Amino acid sequence: MTNLSIRPATTDVLNTINAIYTHSVLHSTATYQTEPSTDAERALWFAAHGPQHPVIVAELDGRVVGWGSLSPFHARAAFARTVEESLYIHQDFHRRGIGKAILVELLKRAKDLGHHRVIAAISGDQEPSLALHESMGFTERGRLTEVGFKFDRWLDLVYLEYRL
Ligand SMILES: CC(C)(COP(=O)(O)OP(=O)(O)OC[C@H]1O[C@@H](n2cnc3c(N)ncnc32)[C@H](O)[C@@H]1OP(=O)(O)O)[C@@H](O)C(=O)NCCC(=O)NCCS
Repeated sequence: MTNLSIRPATTDVLNTINAIYTHSVLHSTATYQTEPSTDAERALWFAAHGPQHPVIVAELDGRVVGWGSLSPFHARAAFARTVEESLYIHQDFHRRGIGKAILVELLKRAKDLGHHRVIAAISGDQEPSLALHESMGFTERGRLTEVGFKFDRWLDLVYLEYRL
């Protein structure tokens, strides 16, 4: 996709990032969050992502259509070189290679930043996300059963690992 570009997120696109995420909050088990974040909460989230934990966006013809982030996997210091990855593509732009492009960039940045492992925590019913991550070389390392409850049903959480 020649008119797709990926760049670091900036404060002016936080509303768009939040809007893309809110769709999954309200309509999907892709996130176990059930109430949308406010713009103020999104701003705090962004501010907490320091240089070791980038947030990036994908722009198609200048419009932000997806985003991805690396976050600390765990607060304890010895986990510092393990990151948890997230990505969300606008619902009207799925299956155009944008998720893969963001994930490729996140993995490149994770490696360049000296991280060692990337973890994806994915709801067991999220076939598109599981398929994307497995196609990129993530391997399932564990499944917690019925640890989530959303839309009146129990959900398994699958942990996948990528070795940088
Ligand atoms: C999961 C998600 C990020 C995929 O992004 P996308 O841009 O639609 O995916 P891509 O077009 O880059 O697909 C890349 C590969 O992933 C797999 N894949 C993506 N969507 C799929 C689907 N609906 N069914 C099966 N495989 C799928 C395929 O292997 C695909 O390659 P192919 O199109 O050559 O067959 C997107 O569906 C999304 O944002 N979903 C809601 C949020 C979410 O689940 N985020 C992940 C939480 S960690």
